[in-house]
Amino acid sequence: MIIIGSDHTGIELKNKIKDYLKENQRRFIDVTDFPDQTGDDYPDIAQIICKQVLKNDSNIGIAICGTGIGISIVCNKIKGIRAALCVDEYMAEMSRRHNKANVLCLGARLKYFERFENVETILDAFLNSFYDGGRHDVRIQKISDIDKAKGGV
Ligand code: RB5
Repeated sequence: MIIIGSDHTGIELKNKIKDYLKENQRRFIDVTDFPDQTGDDYPDIAQIICKQVLKNDSNIGIAICGTGIGISIVCNKIKGIRAALCVDEYMAEMSRRHNKANVLCLGARLKYFERFENVETILDAFLNSFYDGGRHDVRIQKISDIDKAKGGV
Protein backbone atom coordinates (compact mmCIF):
# COMPACT_ATOMS: atom_id res chain seq x y z
CA MET A 1 0.00 0.00 0.00
CA ILE A 2 1.19 3.53 -0.76
CA ILE A 3 0.85 5.95 2.16
CA ILE A 4 0.79 9.56 0.99
CA GLY A 5 0.77 12.81 2.92
CA SER A 6 1.94 16.42 2.78
CA ASP A 7 2.16 19.54 4.87
CA HIS A 8 0.19 22.63 3.78
CA THR A 9 2.71 23.48 1.03
CA GLY A 10 2.25 20.16 -0.73
CA ILE A 11 -1.51 19.75 -0.95
CA GLU A 12 -1.72 20.61 -4.64
CA LEU A 13 1.16 18.33 -5.60
CA LYS A 14 -0.24 15.57 -3.39
CA ASN A 15 -3.61 15.79 -5.15
CA LYS A 16 -1.96 15.59 -8.58
CA ILE A 17 0.00 12.55 -7.44
CA LYS A 18 -3.19 10.94 -6.12
CA ASP A 19 -4.83 11.41 -9.54
CA TYR A 20 -1.78 9.89 -11.18
CA LEU A 21 -1.82 6.91 -8.81
CA LYS A 22 -5.53 6.39 -9.53
CA GLU A 23 -4.89 6.50 -13.30
CA ASN A 24 -2.25 3.83 -12.80
CA GLN A 25 -4.45 1.61 -10.62
CA ARG A 26 -2.16 2.05 -7.60
CA ARG A 27 -3.73 1.64 -4.18
CA PHE A 28 -3.01 4.42 -1.72
CA ILE A 29 -4.16 5.99 1.53
CA ASP A 30 -3.97 9.74 2.07
CA VAL A 31 -3.18 10.10 5.76
CA THR A 32 -3.23 13.91 5.73
CA ASP A 33 -6.60 14.53 4.15
CA PHE A 34 -7.57 17.10 6.79
CA PRO A 35 -10.21 19.81 6.26
CA ASP A 36 -7.77 22.55 7.31
CA GLN A 37 -4.00 22.24 7.11
CA THR A 38 -3.22 25.93 7.60
CA GLY A 39 0.00 26.33 9.54
CA ASP A 40 0.62 22.65 10.05
CA ASP A 41 4.19 21.52 10.74
CA TYR A 42 6.13 19.02 8.67
CA PRO A 43 7.57 17.21 11.76
CA ASP A 44 4.01 16.22 12.74
CA ILE A 45 3.10 15.27 9.18
CA ALA A 46 6.23 13.12 8.79
CA GLN A 47 5.35 11.17 11.92
CA ILE A 48 1.76 10.57 10.77
CA ILE A 49 3.00 9.18 7.44
CA CYS A 50 5.83 7.07 8.85
CA LYS A 51 3.69 5.53 11.59
CA GLN A 52 1.39 4.19 8.87
CA VAL A 53 4.27 3.06 6.63
CA LEU A 54 5.74 1.00 9.45
CA LYS A 55 2.53 -0.99 9.88
CA ASN A 56 3.47 -3.26 6.98
CA ASP A 57 6.85 -4.13 5.46
CA SER A 58 5.47 -3.77 1.97
CA ASN A 59 4.15 -0.24 2.56
CA ILE A 60 5.75 2.69 0.78
CA GLY A 61 5.41 6.32 1.81
CA ILE A 62 5.27 9.49 -0.24
CA ALA A 63 5.99 12.50 1.98
CA ILE A 64 5.81 16.06 0.68
CA CYS A 65 6.77 19.45 2.08
CA GLY A 66 7.95 22.67 0.42
CA THR A 67 11.51 21.60 -0.32
CA GLY A 68 11.25 17.95 0.71
CA ILE A 69 14.18 18.62 3.04
CA GLY A 70 12.35 19.17 6.32
CA ILE A 71 10.11 16.18 5.93
CA SER A 72 13.03 13.93 4.91
CA ILE A 73 15.04 15.02 7.96
CA VAL A 74 12.20 14.05 10.26
CA CYS A 75 11.32 10.79 8.46
CA ASN A 76 14.93 9.66 8.77
CA LYS A 77 14.82 10.11 12.54
CA ILE A 78 12.12 7.47 12.82
CA LYS A 79 13.29 3.95 13.51
CA GLY A 80 12.77 1.67 10.52
CA ILE A 81 12.33 4.50 8.02
CA ARG A 82 14.74 4.98 5.15
CA ALA A 83 13.54 8.13 3.44
CA ALA A 84 14.95 9.35 0.14
CA LEU A 85 14.64 12.92 -1.06
CA CYS A 86 14.74 12.53 -4.82
CA VAL A 87 15.01 15.06 -7.59
CA ASP A 88 15.58 12.71 -10.47
CA GLU A 89 14.81 9.28 -11.81
CA TYR A 90 18.23 7.84 -11.04
CA MET A 91 18.05 8.82 -7.37
CA ALA A 92 14.56 7.36 -7.12
CA GLU A 93 15.59 4.04 -8.66
CA MET A 94 18.80 3.67 -6.68
CA SER A 95 17.20 4.66 -3.39
CA ARG A 96 14.99 1.58 -3.75
CA ARG A 97 17.57 -0.79 -5.22
CA HIS A 98 20.52 0.04 -2.96
CA ASN A 99 19.13 1.91 0.08
CA LYS A 100 15.89 -0.06 0.39
CA ALA A 101 14.10 3.26 0.76
CA ASN A 102 10.58 2.97 2.11
CA VAL A 103 9.63 6.64 1.89
CA LEU A 104 9.98 8.95 -1.13
CA CYS A 105 10.25 12.63 -0.17
CA LEU A 106 9.36 15.34 -2.64
CA GLY A 107 9.58 19.13 -2.61
CA ALA A 108 6.34 20.75 -3.75
CA ARG A 109 7.93 24.17 -4.35
CA LEU A 110 10.66 22.99 -6.69
CA LYS A 111 10.68 24.81 -10.02
CA TYR A 112 11.56 21.51 -11.69
CA PHE A 113 8.31 19.98 -10.45
CA GLU A 114 6.17 22.65 -12.10
CA ARG A 115 6.28 20.20 -15.00
CA PHE A 116 4.32 17.31 -13.54
CA GLU A 117 5.94 14.91 -16.03
CA ASN A 118 9.13 15.29 -13.97
CA VAL A 119 7.29 14.11 -10.88
CA GLU A 120 5.77 11.22 -12.82
CA THR A 121 9.23 10.04 -13.90
CA ILE A 122 10.42 9.98 -10.30
CA LEU A 123 7.27 8.23 -9.08
CA ASP A 124 7.53 5.56 -11.77
CA ALA A 125 11.20 4.93 -11.00
CA PHE A 126 10.54 4.67 -7.26
CA LEU A 127 7.42 2.51 -7.47
CA ASN A 128 8.76 0.16 -10.14
CA SER A 129 12.14 -0.49 -8.51
CA PHE A 130 12.87 -3.07 -5.84
CA TYR A 131 15.63 -3.74 -3.38
CA ASP A 132 18.60 -5.59 -4.93
CA GLY A 133 19.64 -7.28 -1.67
CA GLY A 134 22.99 -9.12 -1.85
CA ARG A 135 25.95 -6.91 -1.02
CA HIS A 136 23.60 -4.16 0.18
CA ASP A 137 22.24 -6.25 3.06
CA VAL A 138 25.23 -5.56 5.26
CA ARG A 139 24.80 -1.80 4.74
CA ILE A 140 21.09 -1.85 5.46
CA GLN A 141 21.86 -3.89 8.59
CA LYS A 142 24.31 -1.17 9.67
CA ILE A 143 21.53 1.41 9.31
CA SER A 144 19.26 -0.77 11.46
CA ASP A 145 22.06 -1.09 14.03
CA ILE A 146 22.24 2.71 14.30
CA ASP A 147 18.46 2.79 14.76
CA LYS A 148 18.71 0.22 17.53
CA ALA A 149 21.59 1.95 19.29
CA LYS A 150 19.78 5.28 19.20
CA GLY A 151 16.50 4.19 20.77
CA GLY A 152 14.07 7.02 19.99
CA VAL A 153 10.75 7.04 18.18
C1 RB5 B 1 6.87 25.41 5.27
O1 RB5 B 1 6.83 26.77 5.06
C2 RB5 B 1 8.20 24.86 4.75
O2 RB5 B 1 9.23 25.32 5.55
C3 RB5 B 1 8.15 23.34 4.73
O3 RB5 B 1 7.16 22.91 3.87
C4 RB5 B 1 9.42 22.64 4.23
O4 RB5 B 1 9.84 23.15 3.01
C5 RB5 B 1 10.53 22.50 5.17
O5 RB5 B 1 11.56 21.91 4.87
